[in-house]
Amino acid sequence: MDINNNIEKVLITEDALDKRIAELASQITTDYMEKDLVMICLLKGSISYFAHLCEKITLPIEYEFLRASSYHGATTTGEVKLLHVPTISLKNRHVIIVEDIIDTGLTLAAIQKVIEQMEPASLEITTLLDKPSRRLDYTVIPKYVGFIIPDEFVVGFGLDYDEKYRNLPYIGVLKKEIYKK
Ligand code: IMP
Repeated sequence: MDINNNIEKVLITEDALDKRIAELASQITTDYMEKDLVMICLLKGSISYFAHLCEKITLPIEYEFLRASSYHGATTTGEVKLLHVPTISLKNRHVIIVEDIIDTGLTLAAIQKVIEQMEPASLEITTLLDKPSRRLDYTVIPKYVGFIIPDEFVVGFGLDYDEKYRNLPYIGVLKKEIYKK
């Protein structure tokens, strides 16, 4: 079974992702030139964006990983659980949280509060995708946004449906019948 056959349409191609991520990496490189930068990857969805973005940033950055869970299949419970918190000190360091997609903003709002308590010198957010029409929490303001997308459930480039489709190299929309299985 080829996963590409379960995709109704490609929303963002591999080439477009590559080009936009290179632009964001270049902007971050300029903005953080003389700064001690820690990039935080939110597992699991941000893994592809995080890897592609960080390898294009030409600064000596440090990696950290954090895991929160709020989604089950294609619906949100509105409940955010932090399953893993940073183990390195973020005090007086410049931090960027790397997110795959901001939907309601509830997940990131909870994570932002935890990181703020660690007293970083600065805290910014980058998200590959943004669905502003779905926002419920307005305290989350991403500085570096890849693409603004319509209110559609998307998969690929790290994003899953029921833990699958993360390995697609592009962002796509699943065929409706897949949700019904
Ligand atoms: P929020 O708390 O509603 O902003 O949800 C953020 C998290 O929900 C993201 O990090 C994703 O893991 C997941 N999510 C939201 N929208 C989608 C989608 O369209 N496809 C796959 N996962 C999504």
